[in-house]
Amino acid sequence: MSDVARAPVPQRAPRTIVDPAELAQALTEARAAGERIGFVPTMGALHEGHLRLVDALRAPPPSTGLSPATLLVASVFVNPTQFGPNEDLARYPRDLEGDRQKLGSRGVHIVFAPTPELMYPQGEATRVRVSQLTDHLCGPFRPGHFEGVTTVVAKFFGMIGPCLASFGRKDYQQLAVLRRMVKDLHFPVEMLGVPTCREADGLAMSSRNAYLSATDRARAVGIPRAISQALRAHAGGERRAGTLRAELARNVAAAMDSVDYAEVADPDTLQPFEGDAAVPDRALFVVAARIGGTRLIDNAVSSEDSPATSAVP
Ligand code: PAF
Repeated sequence: MSDVARAPVPQRAPRTIVDPAELAQALTEARAAGERIGFVPTMGALHEGHLRLVDALRAPPPSTGLSPATLLVASVFVNPTQFGPNEDLARYPRDLEGDRQKLGSRGVHIVFAPTPELMYPQGEATRVRVSQLTDHLCGPFRPGHFEGVTTVVAKFFGMIGPCLASFGRKDYQQLAVLRRMVKDLHFPVEMLGVPTCREADGLAMSSRNAYLSATDRARAVGIPRAISQALRAHAGGERRAGTLRAELARNVAAAMDSVDYAEVADPDTLQPFEGDAAVPDRALFVVAARIGGTRLIDNAVSSEDSPATSAVP
């Protein structure tokens, strides 16, 4: 974490706004007063990983060349269109008051918590879809998911206007898809990807970890361990895609109830490397697997998230 992020953050009760028109007014006034807007979209049930997204807005890494945001907005909205019919929309954890307190403790000024009716007004008929990047990995396992994400984030970007927006690299595919959308639709948004925040044993923080029983929680660490092992094999000279992929899948399967995918893929196109293709220095190791009814995802990019520097044991 940078020195700026360590500096004491003014504690405040954030202003809560429900109505998009009120948000637009507040942001127009803030811009007129010279503020630079920072935005973190969330579905609530916040953990330290979300709060690091806030910290990153106040202190983007110097290597990004991005300047800090001064007026911080976080949305809390469980977006119904990104959940499939058999997914966990109804039981997704919700705690707006707790989320407001956490966001206030990290210096967030405005919590935007719209209702589904305000986000999807009666008669709504618009969807935003990014192709190709959504063809792989989670795309086939969660039909309609990314369309729901890009649609809701496009709505947020339309409401918020020019801003610096931060997203977690834990949702690597989501970040890639949203970067593409920003480019293609010319949104005046600067995108900041923030490293995955991990528990002490290496498990990636996720709101869905709350679903895990103690036994399943202990098993779930098998995912980051499997990724870490694959990164080590790759760093040690194993470059055959099929071999790396098979080892990753085998190790994930040993810990989890089922594996949606365990892939070694191109970090830019997200296309998995096939068969005996030679995996280059920079590669994405990415997993989605299920344990006790909970779906977990994780990833690391070799040469960017090496086992030596990550929290993964
Ligand atoms: O990553 C999430 O929490 C959600 O997909 C997002 C970006 C807030 C859109 O609902």
